[in-house]
Amino acid sequence: MHEPLATKPPKIYSFFIPEIQHFYYSFWMNKELQILLDTPRLILRLSSEADSVKFQDFVKRNMSHRSPWRSATGEPSIDYKNQFLKWEQEFKEGRSIRFILFLKDDPEGAIIGFCNFSQIFRGPFQACYLGYHIDASLEGKGLMSEAVAKALEYMFEKQKLHRIMANYMPSNTRSARLLRKLGFIEEGSAKKYLLINGEWEDHILTSLTNKNWLP
Ligand SMILES: CC(C)(COP(=O)(O)OP(=O)(O)OC[C@H]1O[C@@H](n2cnc3c(N)ncnc32)[C@H](O)[C@@H]1OP(=O)(O)O)[C@@H](O)C(=O)NCCC(=O)NCCS
Repeated sequence: MHEPLATKPPKIYSFFIPEIQHFYYSFWMNKELQILLDTPRLILRLSSEADSVKFQDFVKRNMSHRSPWRSATGEPSIDYKNQFLKWEQEFKEGRSIRFILFLKDDPEGAIIGFCNFSQIFRGPFQACYLGYHIDASLEGKGLMSEAVAKALEYMFEKQKLHRIMANYMPSNTRSARLLRKLGFIEEGSAKKYLLINGEWEDHILTSLTNKNWLP
């Protein structure tokens, strides 16, 4: 479970202080936990039910962009309101941490991407899976590597995970470059690994381990 600090939320993100690397706060009304991270150009925060419409817009806008690598969970027909409630529950149970991304220049505008850490295992494994997607119009500007680098720092230092795994289809060269740049090591490949667009697709398996891991 995640530990809250006694920090009050800023009402608008423009009030955000860049030096604060991360903090938790209670949501205004329902006392849910929140995590907020910032990078030079981005704000990363947990999603809540209130973001579901914006998220659905993001998915619709990026349908064709994602389609070569889309699993069943990326379908635009999903009821995202319900999905977000499930993700909130997963977060409370320490099973996933899913960040949505906003441009720092437009912190209350459109969702421009996401970066998910799912299937968090504790015990002797201390590991999870990473997934991400940036808006097609913002690809190739170094934004996802900026976001993931910050989120990885948080997952290792604050969540104390030891291993983060990320897998991609061999044809997804952008994803391969991003992971390599962030230090992920190729560990092998898996045949017929994930159901993508109705086909079981082979994937390259990579991971990043936390060299400074402490219990
Ligand atoms: C994979 C994906 C997340 C990459 O996003 P991205 O923001 O373009 O990735 P990066 O942050 O690595 O930036 C890419 C390029 O921007 C360039 N760039 C431009 N301006 C930059 C800046 N100011 N700072 C840093 N890099 C910059 C980088 O050189 C980099 O090029 P490189 O890949 O040759 O090193 C994106 O293509 C995507 O969402 N794809 C569809 C979904 C998907 O495939 N998900 C993963 C399934 S496994």
